[in-house]
Amino acid sequence: MNPDLGTERAAWARLLDRASEPYRSAGRFAWHFARGKLGHDPVFRHLLASGLIPQGARVLDIGCGQGLLASLLRACAAMRAAGEWPPAWPPAPAATQVTGIELMPRDVERARAALGEDGGTRFICGDMRTEAFPACDTVVILDVLHYVTHAEQDAVLKRVRDALAPGGRLLLRVGDAGARRGFAISQWVDRMVTRVRGHAVAPVYGRTLPEWIAQLRQLGLQVEPRPMSQGTPFANVLLVAQRA
Ligand SMILES: C[S@@+](CC[C@H](N)C(=O)[O-])C[C@H]1O[C@@H](n2cnc3c(N)ncnc32)[C@H](O)[C@@H]1O
Repeated sequence: MNPDLGTERAAWARLLDRASEPYRSAGRFAWHFARGKLGHDPVFRHLLASGLIPQGARVLDIGCGQGLLASLLRACAAMRAAGEWPPAWPPAPAATQVTGIELMPRDVERARAALGEDGGTRFICGDMRTEAFPACDTVVILDVLHYVTHAEQDAVLKRVRDALAPGGRLLLRVGDAGARRGFAISQWVDRMVTRVRGHAVAPVYGRTLPEWIAQLRQLGLQVEPRPMSQGTPFANVLLVAQRA
């Protein structure tokens, strides 16, 4: 095996351990969920491997769930401080400030139990449709917008664009409703997970990939789509949208 690949795998495994560890204090479910999601969802590794979150960024994570991204970013900073960050990777996103907005009180409780809150991390229990967005450099929205109507999605996206600093990025993962099979599977899994987490299952509002891209371009954002369901049966796409 290529030694660099081995080093990278080991580094990712350490990062996964570090990012999951805090959830032990939030209960067994929270810990297993963290390990499973961070370990199997390709988007988290992609965000780091592509350097999409800059050092010192003010990050807004909308629909943050139990705060996995905040935990991952903390783990990155810790690995960098310990001299364990692989030199082949883009610079570690250290010294970030993360604001998470999440609708479900139980998820916010788990996030706070695991990570606490300090100058660098805070969690707001609120609805993205009404909660004010702080000024930020990076907005992350992973698998969230489909829970609200198309008009509400548009309103959220417009406020996200306004909250972003010039040159800032929106990292938006969506399902492509045009890829029927993958989209149907992701909806089915979404409903199962929502039930397991003890939440009521709501209807979903999908769009095709060209519709998502057109909506973001209409807001003046430059958009680059990246397939983001490797190793899963879904039809997910990460839209990297930059404010000019
Ligand atoms: C599929 S989960 C994704 C969680 C997280 N982004 C991740 O990738 O691990 C979707 C999250 O969006 C949250 N959510 C749904 N509607 C919301 C709203 N109107 N405002 C804020 N959060 C919302 C849900 O409660 C849930 O935690």
